[in-house]
Amino acid sequence: MNLTLSIWRQKGANDKGKMVDYKVTDISEHMSFLEMMDVLNEQLINQGEEPVAFDHDCREGICGMCSMYINGEAHGPDRGVTTCQLHMRMFKDGDTITIEPFRAAAFPVIKDLVVDRTSFERIQQAGGYISVNTSGNTQDANAILIPKEDADKAMDAATCIGCGACVATCKNSSAMLFVGAKVSQYALLPQGQVEATDRVLNMVKQMDEEGFGNCTNTGACEIECPKGISLENIARMNTEFMKASLKG
Ligand code: SF4
Ligand code: FES
Repeated sequence: MNLTLSIWRQKGANDKGKMVDYKVTDISEHMSFLEMMDVLNEQLINQGEEPVAFDHDCREGICGMCSMYINGEAHGPDRGVTTCQLHMRMFKDGDTITIEPFRAAAFPVIKDLVVDRTSFERIQQAGGYISVNTSGNTQDANAILIPKEDADKAMDAATCIGCGACVATCKNSSAMLFVGAKVSQYALLPQGQVEATDRVLNMVKQMDEEGFGNCTNTGACEIECPKGISLENIARMNTEFMKASLKG
């Protein structure tokens, strides 16, 4: 395939940035999107030009680093996959592909397609953990029986990889699907009950302080989430928040 790539180039956080067109040739349909970006970067380096900065780590859909907005969709046109799992067979010879960073006030651009998502880390640090006694008297996890339905739902919530596609997709730049998943994975388990009240209050407070917008139930986040995180998690977070607020 021969393609035109229209890519957001921005030298640094304070640079204005603009779309720049590039041509790539002989792209195999079996390549991943990031392998195609590697081909472009090799070409740019050989021409003495600055390669396009983009985030990636695992390249297998686990780390959540590969944040790209491709043809107007977070992680591109396929469903249930991250950018690193997106294959070039989703595109046609002669296509022009538009590639932009995830855009949200709480995800400022660092360079080209790389955005700063440490706001997610600060939300996680505000309550996305449980305290465990590791003094040697730790109870075996399997000693606490958990209904299968709860375990399954907690596991589903825990598959959130913190990629930020939900925020990038939402017209309000809301992080509620992410925070809902992180609150739910503990709210559904007995181990999460001890700190449940502080967790939801602190995580929601941090989410608001980071400048994420509110949820208006458009459901776009659920559609674009590569891990299929359900809106049910937002409803659960709202219930947890209400319960915690009444206690407070
Ligand atoms: S909820 Fe989905 S889209 Fe949002 S950060 Fe988690 S995995 Fe990514
Ligand atoms: S590079 Fe890790 S999820 Fe894409």
